[in-house]
Amino acid sequence: MDADAPNLPRVSQDLRTNVCIVGAGIAGMTTAYLLARAGRAVIVIDDGQIGGGETGRSTAHITAALDDRYTEIEKLHGEQGARYAAESHTAAIDRIESIASLEDIDCDFERVDGYLFLGKNDKRKILERELKAAHRAGLVDVELLERAPLEFWDTGPALRFPRQAQFHPLKYLNGLSRAVLRDGGLIFNFTHAEKIEDGEPAKVTTSDGHTILADRIVVATNTPVNDWVILHTKQAAYRTFVIGARVPRGSIPRALYWDTPDPYHYIRLHEVDAKLDPDRSDEILIVGGEDHKTGQEDDAEERFRCLEEWTRERFPMVTSVEFRWSGQVIEPVDHMAFIGKNPGTDENIYVATGDSGNGITHGTIAGILLTDLVMGRKNPWTKLYDPSRVTLRATGDFLRENLNVAGQYKDWTTGSDVDSYDDIAPGSGAVVRRGMSKIAVYRDDKGEIHERSAVCPHLYCIVDWNSAERTWDCPCHGSRFDPYGQVVNGPAITPLPEVDEEAPASQ
Ligand SMILES: Cc1cc2nc3c(=O)[nH]c(=O)nc-3n(C[C@H](O)[C@H](O)[C@H](O)COP(=O)(O)OP(=O)(O)OC[C@H]3O[C@@H](n4cnc5c(N)ncnc54)[C@H](O)[C@@H]3O)c2cc1C
Ligand code: FES
Repeated sequence: MDADAPNLPRVSQDLRTNVCIVGAGIAGMTTAYLLARAGRAVIVIDDGQIGGGETGRSTAHITAALDDRYTEIEKLHGEQGARYAAESHTAAIDRIESIASLEDIDCDFERVDGYLFLGKNDKRKILERELKAAHRAGLVDVELLERAPLEFWDTGPALRFPRQAQFHPLKYLNGLSRAVLRDGGLIFNFTHAEKIEDGEPAKVTTSDGHTILADRIVVATNTPVNDWVILHTKQAAYRTFVIGARVPRGSIPRALYWDTPDPYHYIRLHEVDAKLDPDRSDEILIVGGEDHKTGQEDDAEERFRCLEEWTRERFPMVTSVEFRWSGQVIEPVDHMAFIGKNPGTDENIYVATGDSGNGITHGTIAGILLTDLVMGRKNPWTKLYDPSRVTLRATGDFLRENLNVAGQYKDWTTGSDVDSYDDIAPGSGAVVRRGMSKIAVYRDDKGEIHERSAVCPHLYCIVDWNSAERTWDCPCHGSRFDPYGQVVNGPAITPLPEVDEEAPASQ
């Protein structure tokens, strides 16, 4: 996905503001937009460009049909919790539509229906239960049909969620950024927050050594880079894969489609860039799925192959696969995002994280809810999204995810991925053992070797090479680093250490 991003400066002096927002994805930019509209002075910083994180990789289904499903949400959060979940996600769809209209943002926003159908081994009962749970949650116009509206493929029974939506996320964020700048906000790119401290005022220190003092700080970095432990025990990072296939225009009804297995497939149609299809005869069918825990597999080729095979079996009109990409999704153990005051003793630091596969609506809810909290207004969704909540009924998933993390520390005791550096092809990397140390070795396209410690600076797990993205990915909480060790995704906030300054092997 591509859209013209505005050219924005980096922070080059110390600054003071009402609210500093770290992260210019859907959560950070929506928060900035709504706070600036409410008259607050805002500064947004991002260490890349607007939308350069997961929002730019999103397939952008905008939906209240939550991927963990209402049957489960009701079990964990009760009937009232499920009602607030449905209400807040529906409000987020409406809010995106109204902002796009009010600000005249040409972002291809379109209302479409959504269809949830069964996986091969799944039973009709799943949909019958989900229908009842969705109705109890207040989504009373959801209905059970005998099949999704696809003439060429009998999906079997399907739930129809009317009036969901889709859009182009980068075009939307660019529209929000124009409005924030118009309302007096400041946005800085290529500015990495290296330290975030509570206080009156709270303080962000950038990697260039500048400080931004603010009454409040919102950490909207997808996964928090300020909280070291608490939130990361309650959520886990997963890698998800997407293909974009060319299909003749009109051959598939425009809608959102999902199936029920875990991981599930998510499907929608998207306009082809006019440069690639001047006579507008085609559309792009976007299909995602094949998720795995970040840093725990490196078989992207196989995942893309499975996705293409699955797609071609069901959508015979596919002419060619034109795009492939992957991204990271943060799964909270109790299925709802963490939006609100940072857990612990912080008074002036807020977070938005744990989006699951519904980050476009969760990010918009973050904007609405955080604006209310910063402005001292009451919001009925506060408790459901409270980052400090403990959902006892999710204890099983909590233990499973944390045992999985504990198991990753075994990588300290294993050998090298390769027998010799000669086995590392140009453009790829491998972790090698040197004495007690583990080294992340990258051979660039020219054949030159670059070394960093393979020890993640977050909580000292050993990173793994991700050949599809050319990154070092941490299997514990999803930190990612570019081939030279610079941080791409938190929770790590600093690069992979230089080889001789790595954390001691005993840590
Ligand atoms: C392939 C894929 C498909 C998806 N499909 C859907 C979908 O169909 N529907 C849906 O609702 N959701 C979907 N999601 C989820 C959704 O896209 C994300 O949850 C959402 O976009 C995250 O938004 P965000 O603002 O929290 O984070 P991001 O968009 O990642 O923004 C965080 C920003 O913080 C910046 N940052 C990080 N650390 C620092 C630092 N230390 N200093 C400064 N800046 C920093 C990053 O550069 C980044 O720009 C999908 C995700 C993926 C990966
Ligand atoms: S992300 Fe937590 S140890 Fe690496």
